[in-house]
Amino acid sequence: MTVTILGIESSCDDTSAAVVRDEYLLSNVIAGQEVHRRYGGVVPELASRAHQQNIVPVVDAAIKDAGISKSDIDAIAFTRGPGLMGALLVGASFAKGFALARKIPLLDVNHLHGHLLVHFLKENGSANRHPSFPFLCLLVSGGHTQIIRVTDYLKHEILGQTIDDAAGEAFDKAAKVMGLSYPGGPVIDKLAAEGNEEAFYFSKPQVPGLDFSFSGLKTSFLYFLRDSLKQDPLFIEKHKKDLCASLQRTIVDMLMEKLVRASQETGIREIVLGGGVSANSALRKAALQTADKHRWNVFLPPLRYTTDNAAMIAITGYYKYKAGLTAGHDVVPDARMYEI
Ligand code: KG4
Ligand code: ZN
Repeated sequence: MTVTILGIESSCDDTSAAVVRDEYLLSNVIAGQEVHRRYGGVVPELASRAHQQNIVPVVDAAIKDAGISKSDIDAIAFTRGPGLMGALLVGASFAKGFALARKIPLLDVNHLHGHLLVHFLKENGSANRHPSFPFLCLLVSGGHTQIIRVTDYLKHEILGQTIDDAAGEAFDKAAKVMGLSYPGGPVIDKLAAEGNEEAFYFSKPQVPGLDFSFSGLKTSFLYFLRDSLKQDPLFIEKHKKDLCASLQRTIVDMLMEKLVRASQETGIREIVLGGGVSANSALRKAALQTADKHRWNVFLPPLRYTTDNAAMIAITGYYKYKAGLTAGHDVVPDARMYEI
């Protein structure tokens, strides 16, 4: 018997709906929100309003693209957290209404769990290579930076994480002080491609164990720019590409150093990247090079699944459904949801 799951993602500024049948992806529709661009960051109230407008057409499109009808859906999965409360509420309320109307089970999914399991999605016509357990996942997004040991679809433990800012936040904040548009990660990535990564040196903090810290880097980058602009008001304009390349190199080195250490300490060489920052071209290159050196079996998510999408929520919902882990209608969004 096949199982068909509709997934809903609305934790930040992307409204997305997807359909999976068993582990196969049938559709994945994402509506981004341009409205935040001019504010240089996501405005929570505007995000909720845009989700309200987008959710019905996005779900309709996902069902249509999948070539199924509503009655084919066995359960609905939604992102319970972490994320913006007002944004999460839109997806959660929609999912509850849909589950009630169709008399189908509700599945609550942790957004980060989705980033971990996106590697198990299968698509017709692609190789469908996936990691085997146990594997280590470097999960790097705008809100999180973690190294997670994953022992089963529904079992994992966090080995290390940031004690302050996330890696994506470091990219976004550095971009902001250089006057680049939001989100800054992809812009820095693009500019860095033509820059010299050894042009400037930014010191890396020494954080014990497998934890990370990025707030110091952000501050030293800010002070460096402030001092340099005193000497030359056109400093950023003149050195933008080199600044991007050098900053990116520093962030990538910090991430890879801890990932190598985690692999050495656990003896696990099955390595997975996930989250928005895993789209970064320098990080992907470094992971592949390190894989050669340390004989890792490395898995980089296809670019379309690095940033937020409902396909990852639907596949995670699928595994929870198979395990009988459905949610009651008293389930509420959890903006700071920790336990994956
Ligand atoms: O996973 P995601 O879409 O949302 C969160 O759950 O946070 O990640 C968004 C983050 C942003 O900080 C964005 O700047 C970063 O991912 N990002 C990148 C790149 N593409 C997205 N950072 C560096 N290089 C990229 N190519
Ligand atoms: Zn995310």
